[in-house]
Formats: sequence, C-alpha cells, structure tokens
Amino acid sequence: MGRVKNTTFAMAAAMLFTGLSTGCTDTAPAAGPFEQSGELIALSGGDAGAANACIVCHGIEGEGDGKLTPRLAGLDPGYSVRQLELYEAGQRRHAEMEAIAARLSWDARNAVASYYADMEAPLGQAANAPTCTTAARQLVFSGDPTRSLPACTACHGRDLAGAGAGGPPLAWQTTAYNESQLRAWRSGKRYGDPQGAMGEVSRLLHERELQAVAACVSTPPDARDRREPRAAFLPERRPDPRSGA
Ligand code: HEC
Ligand code: HEC
Repeated sequence: MGRVKNTTFAMAAAMLFTGLSTGCTDTAPAAGPFEQSGELIALSGGDAGAANACIVCHGIEGEGDGKLTPRLAGLDPGYSVRQLELYEAGQRRHAEMEAIAARLSWDARNAVASYYADMEAPLGQAANAPTCTTAARQLVFSGDPTRSLPACTACHGRDLAGAGAGGPPLAWQTTAYNESQLRAWRSGKRYGDPQGAMGEVSRLLHERELQAVAACVSTPPDARDRREPRAAFLPERRPDPRSGA
C-alpha cells in the first residue's frame, strides 16, 4: 500500500517538476534543466574546464575514439557515475579521467551521466566487427565450469549489450578497450567493482585467451542481425574506393 502511495507521490512530484521547468505550456518533452546542464558539461567540460570537455575525447555522439577511449552513449547512468567515483578514488587509474572526475560535483556527474545514458549508442564497429574464435565464443557464452569461470553473458546481458548499472555493455566497445580493462583488473590497476567479480574473472582467463575473448565480446556474433541501428545513426554511405563502385 505504502508503495503505491509513494509511487503516486513521486509521479505527482515529477509532473510538478516538469510542469514548472517547462512553464506548463509546452506539450513536447522539453529538456529539463538537469539534462541541459548534462549537455553543457559534455560540450564545455563544466567545472573541469573546456580542455576537458567530454566530447573532445569521447566524440560528439559519445561514440568513443575507436581505440582506448570508450563509448559513453547508452551507458547506464548508475554505472557511469560509479566509474567517475572510482577514478576520483584512484581505483581506476587514468591521469586525465582522475583529474576530470575530481572536479565534477555529484550533481554534475549525475547530469552528464544521464545525458549520455539517453543517447542512442552509435554502432561504430559494425562495419569491421571483430570475430569470435570457437574457443573464445565458448568462454564468453558458456564459461568454463572446470575453472569456475562464469559466462560473460551472465552479468553483461544475453547479447552483451549491458544489464543495468552492474553490467556494462561490452558489445561495441572496441577490442582494444575491452582488452585494456581486462588487463587493468588482472594487474590490480582497476578494482573496487561489486564483489570483485572482474578481478576474479580476469585472473581466471589465461593470458593467451585475453585478446580473443576481448574481440569476441566486442561484437556479439549476430549483432547486426538482431539490432538495427536507427536511421539517424546509419553511417553515410560512401563508395568504397577499392571496389571502384
Ligand atoms: C583527455 C581525454 C578525455 C576527456 C576530456 C574525457 N575522457 Fe572520459 N575517458 C577517457 C579515457 C581514455 C577513458 C578510459 C580510461 C581507462 O582506461 O580507464 C575514459 C573513461 C571514461 C568513463 C568510463 C567508461 C566505461 O565504459 O567504463 C566515463 C564514465 C567517462 N570517461 C566520462 C567522461 C566524462 C563525463 C567526461 C567529461 C566531463 C570525460 N569522460 C572526459 C578520456 C577522456
Ligand atoms: C559476476 C558478474 C560478471 C561476470 C561473470 C563478468 N563480468 Fe565483466 N563486469 C562486471 C561488472 C560488475 C563490471 C563493472 C565493474 C565496475 O563497476 O567497475 C564489469 C565490467 C567489465 C568490463 C569493463 C567495461 C567498461 O566499460 O569499462 C569488461 C571489459 C568486462 N567486464 C569483461 C568481461 C568478460 C570478457 C567476461 C567473461 C569472461 C566478464 N566480464 C564476466 C561483472 C561481470
């Protein structure tokens, strides 16, 4: 009962808030002040300064740089906020991100995280998607009971496209980025994740498997069949100079 009341109250409060922030006149879902400041931080760096504007490194669509700078578009806001905390606490090491996180307030972190969470994830890698070896595919989708290694899909979602704040999407991050994170956990450079799961997983993987597993999780085998990119984010079709088309 109390739950129903609380929900009703929360909805009324949200409606009131939206109503106030849009001046009660607009029917279109206008961006609230919260979202606007998230966008502002992404574009201007907020308190972290213009040189640290997120778009400088993470791309205008939050798509990442295709190398070691991850995609932010579509990441769960709880996950992103937590990563900023980990950078500030030194539980994830990266000089620029540590400095940036330290200069963003709690409100700013939440605002910028929500801004990126609402963005459609651009499928940057689809054109040259990495492939899965049979052995890596087995580890990723089924794990290996002989060494108590759970399937990656158990926590990262059936198609590796994410499962809430505790299971970030691995698909469409790059192989290089995913591999770098597995190595960071293995060496203890990144830690503080819930129950130390990734520390354990990364150490249960053999050195020779890391690269193949990272490649495999970076694009689910049937990604292009199951998830059509929205028209707005389809890459521009350019003739391939090699084919002479
Ligand atoms: C100078 C380049 C640079 C700038 C500017 C920058 N980032 Fe980053 N960011 C990175 C790199 C590189 C990483 C990956 C570091 C690592 O390996 O841990 C990263 C990682 C992250 C992550 C972790 C993502 C994940 O999948 O775990 C978040 C969240 C993030 N950045 C948010 C931001 C926000 C918000 C801003 C703007 C306020 C910002 N970044 C500005 C380079 C940058
Ligand atoms: C028991 C749950 C669990 C399992 C199983 C698991 N992960 Fe994770 N993984 C996590 C959590 C939780 C995080 C986020 C940690 C944090 O908040 O810092 C994560 C994060 C990651 C990241 C970093 C993503 C980013 O954006 O920075 C990579 C890469 C990753 N996992 C790879 C794997 C691979 C490969 C496997 C399978 C071999 C796997 N994980 C299995 C729980 C799991």
